Amino acid sequence: MKTGLAALLALALSLTGPLQAQEPAGAAIFKACQSCHSLDPGKAGMAGPHLAGLKGRVLGSAEGFDYSPAFRAAKAQGFAWDRERLLGYLADPDAIVPGGWMSPPAGLRAADRAAVVDYLFTQ
Ligand code: HEC
Repeated sequence: MKTGLAALLALALSLTGPLQAQEPAGAAIFKACQSCHSLDPGKAGMAGPHLAGLKGRVLGSAEGFDYSPAFRAAKAQGFAWDRERLLGYLADPDAIVPGGWMSPPAGLRAADRAAVVDYLFTQ
């Protein structure tokens, strides 16, 4: 009985282990962003701008996306995305780009925001 349980546990671990290794936490969180954002600069018609190469990218600078006046103002000032700014934006968009259009998915914890920023900054 005891060995049966151990075998079952080992099987469960072998099934879930590789899956978790393939998908970092940030990629899973990003699924909540994908209804509006793509990582493919060529994909048109999304509700939000593409997020490829976000690290160091100037705010509001995705080619072909029609941003809010708030983002156009941020772009004119030359602000760029770094880790602090993006963490702040996901926690409270108005604190970083007052009057912008995005409301981030509800229920993101600080750890989720950090994970998705890490993920996006390597895409
Ligand atoms: C319901 C749609 C929607 C969802 C879901 C959403 N966003 Fe957005 N996002 C937008 C829109 C629209 C804008 C443009 C805002 C503006 O012009 O004011 C935007 C802008 C952004 C920008 C600024 C990009 C730039 O070019 O400067 C970042 C970064 C961003 N979103 C990240 C995220 C992340 C990360 C998530 C998931 C945790 C997310 N968004 C979820 C709609 C969404």
